[in-house]
Amino acid sequence: MNKKVRKAIIPAAGLGTRFLPLTKAMPKEMLPVGDKPTIQYIVEEAIDSGIEDIIIVTGKGKRAIEDHFDNNRDLEENLLKQEKLELLEKVRACSKIEIHYIRQKEPKGLGHAVWSARKFIGDEPFAVLLGDDIVQSEKPCLKQLIEQYNKSGSSVIGVQQIPENETDRYGIVEPGIVNGRFVEVINFIEKPKLGTAPSNLAIIGRYVLTPEIFGLLERLEAGAGGEIQLTDAIQKLNKIQKVFAYQFEGKRHDVGDMLGFIRTTMEFALENPEFGEEVEIMMKEMLVEKAKKFVY
Ligand code: G1P
Repeated sequence: MNKKVRKAIIPAAGLGTRFLPLTKAMPKEMLPVGDKPTIQYIVEEAIDSGIEDIIIVTGKGKRAIEDHFDNNRDLEENLLKQEKLELLEKVRACSKIEIHYIRQKEPKGLGHAVWSARKFIGDEPFAVLLGDDIVQSEKPCLKQLIEQYNKSGSSVIGVQQIPENETDRYGIVEPGIVNGRFVEVINFIEKPKLGTAPSNLAIIGRYVLTPEIFGLLERLEAGAGGEIQLTDAIQKLNKIQKVFAYQFEGKRHDVGDMLGFIRTTMEFALENPEFGEEVEIMMKEMLVEKAKKFVY
């Protein structure tokens, strides 16, 4: 029997430079999509996938994340007095989950952030979820990967096809034998130069890894962008244990840059059961207004 995947690491130490000045004093993980900050979608996906313990790797200026998942007695009492019970439930839901925190002391990259949480993980398989993508799917994305891990006992990396002209923004997989959604991997390459990528299968920020990755991360030299890259350690792991990729089912929303974030915000607003229809009317009106300006 394979050990159960119980723990997850959510790296959230990045500086959020793509969103400046918006993220000067606010962590990018707290940017709102609908009525929740982006990191809440990630935490909920982990819990819906059966994860029992979460550690968030934070850094300077990330206190708002801890406050968000903490109790807020004054607010709760206030809502109770005003009999705003539905809101009270939503607020309480944020602090029901126990989350642990560790600070990444130096901004040395994703691989280093994951390595920082090694003592919390110990000697068991674990998940990593990155906050730059929200995945909407029937079965939570991470759960799909965990099911594959349970079958194979091997590390499993979530991938999806991306446009050819974006392969330099991702970790890319060189596929071997493909069996439905399950992909044997020959090579994992972090951010290959355009025109050199062996495929358009990109790592989308959901990983199930075996603990042997920590020893490899410890000895790893800086890779793409001068950072300790998780992808490079995964490639090394692939040499000593099989690592598979899995083309998960689901719609990925890229909230890692400004345009993707704006698009996601609009999509979630349109889908909202309470006010989605009104948002659609508003958007149509805006387009008509814009077209009119163009005519005059
Ligand atoms: C990270 C990973 C990369 C992955 C990407 C997904 O890159 O290093 O392999 O494809 O996340 O979002 P980053 O976007 O942090 O540069």
